Amino acid sequence: MLRLQRRLITLRPTTSSANLKSGQAMNVIKSVLPYLWPKSRKDIQFRVVLAMLALVLGEILGLLAPYFYGVSVDALAPGADEDQTIFMLTAGALGMVVAYGVMRILSVGFSQLRDVIFAQVGQRALRQLALETFRHMHRLSLRYHITRKTGGLSRVMERGVKGVEFLLRFMLFSIGPLILKLLIVAGIFYLEFGFIYMAIVLITIVLYIWFTFSVTEWRVKVRKEMNDKDTDANQKAIDSLLNFETVKYFGAEEREALRYDESMRGYEAAALKTSYSLAFLNFGQTLLITGGLITVMILAAMAVQRGELSVGDFVMANAYMIQITMPLGFLGTVYREIRQALVDMGEMFDLLGQPQEVIDVANAEDLNIKGGQIEFDNVTFGYDPERTILSKLSLKIKKGETVAIVGPSGSGKSTIGRLLFRFYDVNSGSLKIDGQDIRNVTQASVHNSIGIVPQDTVLFNDTIGYNIAYGRDGASEDEIIAAAKSAKIHDFIISLTDGYNTTVGERGLKLSGGEKQRVGIARTLLKNPPILVLDEATSALDTETERNIQDSLRGLGSGRSVITIAHRLSTVVDADQIIVLEQGCIVEKGTHDELLNLNGRYTKMWHIQESEAELAV
Ligand SMILES: Nc1ncnc2c1ncn2[C@@H]1O[C@H](COP(=O)(O)OP(=O)(O)O)[C@@H](O)[C@H]1O
Ligand SMILES: [Mg+2]
Repeated sequence: MLRLQRRLITLRPTTSSANLKSGQAMNVIKSVLPYLWPKSRKDIQFRVVLAMLALVLGEILGLLAPYFYGVSVDALAPGADEDQTIFMLTAGALGMVVAYGVMRILSVGFSQLRDVIFAQVGQRALRQLALETFRHMHRLSLRYHITRKTGGLSRVMERGVKGVEFLLRFMLFSIGPLILKLLIVAGIFYLEFGFIYMAIVLITIVLYIWFTFSVTEWRVKVRKEMNDKDTDANQKAIDSLLNFETVKYFGAEEREALRYDESMRGYEAAALKTSYSLAFLNFGQTLLITGGLITVMILAAMAVQRGELSVGDFVMANAYMIQITMPLGFLGTVYREIRQALVDMGEMFDLLGQPQEVIDVANAEDLNIKGGQIEFDNVTFGYDPERTILSKLSLKIKKGETVAIVGPSGSGKSTIGRLLFRFYDVNSGSLKIDGQDIRNVTQASVHNSIGIVPQDTVLFNDTIGYNIAYGRDGASEDEIIAAAKSAKIHDFIISLTDGYNTTVGERGLKLSGGEKQRVGIARTLLKNPPILVLDEATSALDTETERNIQDSLRGLGSGRSVITIAHRLSTVVDADQIIVLEQGCIVEKGTHDELLNLNGRYTKMWHIQESEAELAV
């Protein structure tokens, strides 16, 4: 078992989250682009262009504000212009102040307009991506889902979609405007104040960005550790709660708590490291930016003293520096969020890129059912290459026949059903329905033709009615009730206060094993497929209910091919053929009477069960 588990772990795909190469980042961005610039949607493309226009306008207007601010200071300064009257000066200064205000309002107005215009593009992309990932998760094989933790998978999707949102918001509305702003401000400093000012601004920004990115790079690793620990603790908690009953059976509350605390301890340590490193980052950033700001201010102050610059220029320089430091302050967060978003999106695109194991061949046609003859021809199969579960199994079920499979637990009975449904492909040999290899027809048509009542029925966390109706899309109320009656569960359902509207709890846990099994039978009765697989479908029922349902199942089975996997041999005595399976091989085959005459395995099992039945009476 331990060996098996270890193998399952290695089967799990490795995610690229530990290290994000720039190439990968580019790939991720390339993967998102089609969602933002959909070829077939001119209206969306138009919106993107409009949003970009609003972005540029907003930035330019925003940068005009400090200019008017500086000019109004100069207009107000004593002796600003000897030729003008006091009235003209004041009117000019007021005009400049009003212009300053108008610029600010317009700038904010345009950036809000940009958000409003772009929102629909972003939300649509998110929805598309989420849907595609969701569909893909259902396309992946059972093997993949068994080896992945479901909670982990939905988190990958959730984080990935959130990542796209972050990336859009920060890339377009934070980094984009920031770069534009830095370039324009550098230009203004060059034109208004001279080369040296521009050089100081640029050097400060370059140093600042370098420092922020390197520290953040290191912090991303710390945060990744924190994330992992968080996921780990979360999964332990979910798993533990799913096993609520088991935990109680073994009095393991304390053990579970310790296990959980162990994960939380790791999270605590990682979270502390995260906040310490943030303090370091913040302080370093302030040091650099204030250094640059003060240098520019000192130069400007000296120039004002020398009479080369006006007081208004001094104020303007300060206003521009403040304008660029504000968005720079968020750069660390922005960089980290973008990086995190890229990692999360990378994981989601990995999931999207996860190849399907069982795929339809090109131009596969639908299965053409002519009666439902099933043929296993020399089938060999193992879940893992090292361990063969079925070896050279040949089995023919003529149309309308009922074949029973009996044998010890673990002999491969349920595996036969899974192969027929094509949850897995056989390793060698072939599996045909009405002469057509199931690998050559569409999976959807195979799935449509086969009804399986599984060993353990799992239900949706919804009403009983919903769960039965699941058997066939669009089934009428009468049909649902008829199916419930045949599965002998109708009387139970109407005895509940809410009847068919009773909720069944997560995975159907509010129902007993037998009740769940009958819901499972009812929905398969509703599906009404030409081929039926009953995998110990009545094992959780008492003998009397089982006998009653057997009648319905027999009715359902008439005229179709049925594989019935049985636990209680008394339920299969009238099968057309009984197969005794042991360690993946057919050891005996025949009708009930033939097998009893053989005096072999089947006879032995029969006698054991008979004496048990006698004891029970
Ligand atoms: N997904 C899986 N991965 C690996 N081994 C599996 C898997 N499912 C079942 N097995 C193994 O295959 C063998 C046959 O299983 P199964 O067909 O379910 O037996 P049963 O005859 O009881 O229905 C068992 O030994 C089981 O442990
Ligand atoms: Mg089984």
